[in-house]
Amino acid sequence: MKTAPALHHQPVTLADTATAIRTEGLRKVYQRGQDSLVALEGLDLTVDKGEFFGLLGTNGAGKSTTIGMLTTLVTPTAGSAWVAGHEVSADPVGVKSRIGVVSQANTLDRALTVLDNLAFRGRYFGLSASAARRRALDLLEQLALADKASAKAHHLSGGQARRVMIGRALMHLPEVLFLDEPTAGVDPQAREDLWQIIGSLHEGGQTVVLTTHYLDEAEALCQRLAVIDHGHLLACDTPEAIKATSGAQTVITVRYDAAAEPVADAVRRIPGGPHVVIVDGPNIQVRTTRPDGVLGHLLREGGAAGLTVRDAATTPPSLQTAFLTLTGRDYQP
Ligand SMILES: Nc1ncnc2c1ncn2[C@@H]1O[C@H](COP(=O)(O)OP(=O)(O)OP(=O)(O)O)[C@@H](O)[C@H]1O
Ligand SMILES: [Mg+2]
Repeated sequence: MKTAPALHHQPVTLADTATAIRTEGLRKVYQRGQDSLVALEGLDLTVDKGEFFGLLGTNGAGKSTTIGMLTTLVTPTAGSAWVAGHEVSADPVGVKSRIGVVSQANTLDRALTVLDNLAFRGRYFGLSASAARRRALDLLEQLALADKASAKAHHLSGGQARRVMIGRALMHLPEVLFLDEPTAGVDPQAREDLWQIIGSLHEGGQTVVLTTHYLDEAEALCQRLAVIDHGHLLACDTPEAIKATSGAQTVITVRYDAAAEPVADAVRRIPGGPHVVIVDGPNIQVRTTRPDGVLGHLLREGGAAGLTVRDAATTPPSLQTAFLTLTGRDYQP
């Protein structure tokens, strides 16, 4: 599949509010015998209608637990969550009828055909047999799966199964689509296809909440991110703002034709610091949150010391370095 499928999808919207999701002090503690594990500390967040929102975190961060509570599959220990205008504990049926969920595990009915996996979902939500079949075929077409309609679900590849699960979740025009790790374990081409599909749904107005442990996926798709670690919300903002405000550093590296030491002192005195300056033979590296003018300084001071520049590179803050700064450890999904 080379071109983005046009998903002409009109999600149902509530007229009364611009908010798709709101949580207040949402908390989950799992009890394991005598032990208890806090999977999610009190979480407060708001997702607007039409937004593409990401939950980013390493394994065990609490992403699926959060999705579980928002989709009524996991009972909160404390706090509240409203999804599509309904509170998850007070009105789980109201929430369920307005959301589509693609869970982390393959939950297709293996014995059914692809078409029936979708059509049965349509019937469950009250469509007539012919309407369910029409909508299922339509979605399969848009998901580039028309040729798989009569295949048994257990004959699908991982990427195809994800697409079918997305189709099934869209059968009843959900207000909010939840995707838990939609591209985990699929090959790079299938991943690209899924990005196109999900991106196109969002362009059509669909509110999407996605979890991922892939930094590039979070950055490429999500308008806003909640960075979660060990059940704690570390940051919630646009990827750009998270990088800019986390205190993550820009790394500027210059390699001269001889020992860089003569430049080091001058560089340490650059106004606008503090900068971390690391000298290693002909290499000098400056780590700073205020990178403006630093490279120029390195070039000028090198020239003044009679050094010639062999190589120079500037690495701006990334989500990786932002995570490192926020947690004090490297990002290891
Ligand atoms: N049903 C459960 N019973 C007990 N502990 C659980 C249960 N589900 C999750 N946990 C624990 O809660 C923590 C958060 O798990 P969760 O599945 O929410 O993480 P995640 O961010 O989705 O991780 P992954 O990237 O691996 O999917 C983990 O320590 C996990 O072991
Ligand atoms: Mg998970």
